Amino acid sequence: MPPHATDLKYRALLEISEAFIACRDYDSLLHTLWESLLGLIPFDYLALVRYNKLQHTARLEAFAGDIVAKAPLRQDLPIEGSPVEILLETGRPLYVPDLSREPRFRPDLMENFRAYGIRSGFWVLLERGEKRFGSMSFASQSLDAYGPEDRELMEHIGRHVTIAVENALAFEKITELRKRIEDEKVYLEEEIRSEYRFDELVGNSAALRKVLKQIETAAPTDSTVLIQGETGTGKELVARAIHQLSGRSHATFVKLNCSAIPSGLIESELLGHEKGAFTGAITQRIGRFELANGGTLFLDEIGELPLETQPKLLRVLQDGQFERLGGNRTIESDFRLVAATNRDLRAMVNENAFRRDLYYRVNVFPIVIPPLRERREDIPTLVRYFVQEFATRMRKPIESIPAESMNALVNYSWPGNVRELRNVLERSVILTSGTKLRVPRDAFDETASQNGGVVSMEEAERRHIVGALQATGGVVGGPKGAAALLGMKRSTLQSRMAKLGVTARKN
Ligand SMILES: Nc1ncnc2c1ncn2[C@@H]1O[C@H](COP(=O)(O)OP(=O)(O)OP(=O)(O)O)[C@@H](O)[C@H]1O
Ligand SMILES: [Mg+2]
Repeated sequence: MPPHATDLKYRALLEISEAFIACRDYDSLLHTLWESLLGLIPFDYLALVRYNKLQHTARLEAFAGDIVAKAPLRQDLPIEGSPVEILLETGRPLYVPDLSREPRFRPDLMENFRAYGIRSGFWVLLERGEKRFGSMSFASQSLDAYGPEDRELMEHIGRHVTIAVENALAFEKITELRKRIEDEKVYLEEEIRSEYRFDELVGNSAALRKVLKQIETAAPTDSTVLIQGETGTGKELVARAIHQLSGRSHATFVKLNCSAIPSGLIESELLGHEKGAFTGAITQRIGRFELANGGTLFLDEIGELPLETQPKLLRVLQDGQFERLGGNRTIESDFRLVAATNRDLRAMVNENAFRRDLYYRVNVFPIVIPPLRERREDIPTLVRYFVQEFATRMRKPIESIPAESMNALVNYSWPGNVRELRNVLERSVILTSGTKLRVPRDAFDETASQNGGVVSMEEAERRHIVGALQATGGVVGGPKGAAALLGMKRSTLQSRMAKLGVTARKN
């Protein structure tokens, strides 16, 4: 061999081992190999095969060649009758100078070689110690393409490739582990629900647990319960839970939404009416008070009850007696009242928009449901719960929620509370096609834009801090941290963050 050829080969080896350092997968490995060996070793086809010891299978991870072939890429195939089997058995490289006369290969492999015009090939086992990673192969359309020196060089290269494959596999494992840590898994609904006797109220924050405790306390009594909370916080769910856990659960739960009915009709809805009681009363009608006899009457949006109707409700609550409109028979009904409102009833009393006496009569056992932004710990659980619900309904195999999406969901202000969160997740599940949930970016701006984009000072501050944390990759302190960026002291920023419920981890 002329000396410059040896030189070239060693330079190539050096180049390869250096280039391999950057390779983190089979494809880039093969690509590097191809580039550095071109002109040095005659080959028409290059391949990397991965061996699975447990399954005793081999899969073609990457291949390249002048032949445009439909090789069965990334399929687990049996190793019987393949070069890998021979490599594993003999523990030595395999050289086949004339493939048409090789009796040990499977017919389908032989057929592939024939189809690609491959006539000779060289295989090296990629192994280190007891570990067998797979094989690297060179093949040529010429007969007996590889002399002893070529084979020696290929064997040598094989050792470098082994290290690179080991690295790639380790990197693959790290990536997988990291994904597993970062992505929130979607657990089965049962796991989420099983903590309580409450079927539908999901969440584990101290704030929600307090609400659940209050439900348990109030339910068995016959006291009137007043549920207060912003829109979408779950007031109706709480009302139903109270009914379910009460001694009246076998009887009906009757609901009347005071804001959904024209004020002139509310009275007849509650009291019922006799035929001909007023224009339009063509038949007799049983009211909600009567329907709820033995059960629970849920007066939703009680703050919208017209002022003139309020004394009538008060009287019924005090006496348990009333007459249908247009009737003169006294009717008795034994119902338990649960009322809900998203208005500040006490303030309404002070403004004479709600009767004080009725307020006291209704506000016997108050339950206040905090808005979602004040109990962000509940968000991940709710997210998994709703994703599970919709994925099951839409038959989608969603397995995980990307960490960035979960962070965005946790940090959003949710002006529409749980209802809004639920809607966003329904939309996300519709948009998802793989196993990873896809949360649309615009999901979080909808309500803000409904208010002309104006948010509260607190919300603006929160978003500003979240933005700074995003810019610094979640770093709070130090010269490149969010505190420096915002011109604040680290401790000041941290206390603001705690107050606003902003977390630092990779916002
Ligand atoms: N803790 C929770 N767990 C599971 N789902 C919840 C929870 N809280 C609310 N939801 C869901 O959010 C949606 C809104 O709840 P609900 O209708 O009870 O709210 P609301 O307070 O009555 O709202 P509004 O004031 O607008 O009437 C419903 O789909 C409900 O099932
Ligand atoms: Mg409601």
